[in-house]
Amino acid sequence: MSSFSQQLRLPLLGAESSSERPHGNSRERLASLLAEDLDFHDKRSDYCSHNFHSFPAKFPPQLPRRFIVGLTDPGDTVLDPMVGSGTTVLEAVLAGRRALGFDIDPLALLLSNVKTTPFSAERAADAGGQVLRFARFALVGRADLLRHELETRFDPKTRRFVDYWFAPTTQLELLALVLGLERVEDSLARSFLKATLSSIVITKSGGVSLARDLGHTRPHRVEEKEPRSAISEFEKRLERNLRSLRQLDADPGCAQVLCGDAQHLPLASGTVDLIVTSPPYASNAIDYMRAHKFSLVWFGHPIDALNQKRRQYIGGEAVEEFVFEGLPPKAGERVATVAATDAKKGAALHRYYSEMTRCIREMFRVLRPGKVAVVVVGTSVMRGIDTLTHLCLADVAEAVGFEVVGIATRRLDRDRRMMPARNGETRATQIEQRMHEEYVIGLLKPEEAGRA
Ligand SMILES: C[S@@+](CC[C@H](N)C(=O)[O-])C[C@H]1O[C@@H](n2cnc3c(N)ncnc32)[C@H](O)[C@@H]1O
Repeated sequence: MSSFSQQLRLPLLGAESSSERPHGNSRERLASLLAEDLDFHDKRSDYCSHNFHSFPAKFPPQLPRRFIVGLTDPGDTVLDPMVGSGTTVLEAVLAGRRALGFDIDPLALLLSNVKTTPFSAERAADAGGQVLRFARFALVGRADLLRHELETRFDPKTRRFVDYWFAPTTQLELLALVLGLERVEDSLARSFLKATLSSIVITKSGGVSLARDLGHTRPHRVEEKEPRSAISEFEKRLERNLRSLRQLDADPGCAQVLCGDAQHLPLASGTVDLIVTSPPYASNAIDYMRAHKFSLVWFGHPIDALNQKRRQYIGGEAVEEFVFEGLPPKAGERVATVAATDAKKGAALHRYYSEMTRCIREMFRVLRPGKVAVVVVGTSVMRGIDTLTHLCLADVAEAVGFEVVGIATRRLDRDRRMMPARNGETRATQIEQRMHEEYVIGLLKPEEAGRA
């Protein structure tokens, strides 16, 4: 069944139809879309599988949808090279487009794949029932074996992490669910259930862990937190995610989400019709791995390996052996200004703009001439200095060969986007300053670029 016809049946969700596309060539259409209200504060974002799992700084679905419907046709290829929780790829498949996504974060890859892969909710429900039955049986009848498994399953460092952040009863329950999951043979059902299990750990309130503010990636341990039963939370969440899965009415195989670095995309040149993406903030303002490891350790990832991976994320601070790029004037000036106050921070900003230069170069390469990239960014404050990320990235994009058609500003609904929470006075003002709005940069790859 064509999913494009399905999207036309979503009027309650605020979906646009292709007849609402602006007129004109790509440049005119992009300019007109950027001039529209891009806040979407009154729009629902809990339809289909969007609500599967919390994820910091995820798009309101209407944002990618606006550009997908306005700038592409059914069957076109839409790319998000930093796919996160998969909002762009999900909206692309719901609109009948082909979707490609890349990320290096294991949880982002799991979620984006589960959220865009339609499969039988009955199979998922059966497998979920099987996991719950197994877990309940193990907790009552084989608690000694579970305890032994807990002792041997993790390396010492991962074990210390688990002990610090999870109450002993929660550890046993989570382990029982994980062992149940590992027995599920159907890989689609297993991934769906893993994502469901993760969604009870990573929540705004820290879910079944002892953490607070986990969804905001700045966890604090709360001694007095009464641990909730992982079994009943999983059961409740399973029901909800099964409802989401039933709404996922897209054509199978339309989305491909793979592990890959946005700075070196494994794609042929000139093959993509639209990019809608949002990179991480400069200076690691949202530290994905800090929250994601709370569920990834349960899926067999040792804490050391996760910390190692964290160094590869765009926006990290480590610069040893890093290969810097030459920067255009505006970005170079910002780096120099920050470096004059704090050399280490200046180097971190230089790293960020270098990484983003490589990403934007790749976006330019893989786009067809005459096509558009939409890059959504927030700015950061480093040592009291605004990094002016939107202006610097626009500058970088121009140097790479893009035409900057416009930069729109959108006001953030902080709570819904799960931005870092208030956390101490000085930090709070800095964070609030940089988090209350973000910028939508509209870039066009000129037609002439194809003839060069
Ligand atoms: C702001 S989030 C994207 C959120 C997404 N728009 C959504 O709606 O869920 C940025 C993503 O960039 C990813 N990322 C960081 N470094 C990357 C790299 N080198 N290559 C690809 N993705 C990367 C992070 O893992 C994170 O998922």
